[in-house]
Amino acid sequence: MQLEQFVRTLPKAELHLHLAGAVNARTFLKLAHKNNVALPDFDEVEDLYRYDNLVDFLDVYDLVARSVVDADDFHLIAYEALEHVAKAGGRYTEFFFSPQVHQDAGISYQTMFSGILQAMDDAERDFGLVSRLIPAINRELSLDRSLEFLELILPFRSDKVIGIGLDYDEEPFPPAPFKPVYDKAKKAGMRLTAHAGEGGPAANVRDALDLLGVERIDHGYRVMEDPDLVARCIAEDIAFTVCPSSTVILTHWRDLTAADHPIRTMLDAGLKLVVDTDDPPMLQTDLAKEYRLLAETMSLDRASLAALALNSLDAAWLDDSTRRAWR
Ligand code: ADE
Ligand code: ZN
Repeated sequence: MQLEQFVRTLPKAELHLHLAGAVNARTFLKLAHKNNVALPDFDEVEDLYRYDNLVDFLDVYDLVARSVVDADDFHLIAYEALEHVAKAGGRYTEFFFSPQVHQDAGISYQTMFSGILQAMDDAERDFGLVSRLIPAINRELSLDRSLEFLELILPFRSDKVIGIGLDYDEEPFPPAPFKPVYDKAKKAGMRLTAHAGEGGPAANVRDALDLLGVERIDHGYRVMEDPDLVARCIAEDIAFTVCPSSTVILTHWRDLTAADHPIRTMLDAGLKLVVDTDDPPMLQTDLAKEYRLLAETMSLDRASLAALALNSLDAAWLDDSTRRAWR
């Protein structure tokens, strides 16, 4: 069997995908025209999705998010994102969305959730893809805004809306100040994850674990700067959702073949890694392509790819009977 077919059919879960980052460029264009969102000049649609650092990327991400206005728009982008996961052989996904950027564009939480939740049901019916939603805090906004975020999402907590995340630019915005909102979310029964160690130091990974109480770390590359913390994460079986193409485009670790690329050194150290896409169309990728990219650049054999796919099911916030059925 060709590698492409092998990675596509490997049963796996996608645990790190942002909804606004999963809007393909043509849908973005269509929604921007429909909703009168002004776009920068471009020659080809694909040019809309060119950037080479996280800050520039997040500007485009926000523009995409602001082109999504009514419940049908949310349904469309969620349905297409889930179809894309299913086509890459994803059996299950826990995906992020960024309510605050939509809120700031005047959209109600009811509008956002109704479109997305309906798309999750429709995608399960049409593609057999089971999905769960993780509203994520924009760390560049204030603690007060994140506490308000929690109040606004908790009425939607359900077997489908299961946790919270923390994203946007980590370097100037460390995790520690968000402890009060994570404490409240935990009390309310939410599962917890956060982006840490993507641009910020290893101490952010430690604070995400110790102060926020997260169960997984999104990205986490800079954990490698602290060998004691690496040993602890191995002992505690902490999963890291790593995103190969995202490192190439949005970080300074641009060469996946380099011996010191953090995904390489994290693998070699024995950390539990889950391979994910982050923002598939915005980073010109899909879940199968991310597995193939690792196989090709890091010389991973099929047993290693299968082990990574098993990690994705282990680290998913699934109940044990569902997990066993998929392994
Ligand atoms: N939102 C979408 N992708 C992101 C990333 N890689 N880091 C932080 N926030 C994001
Ligand atoms: Zn991310």
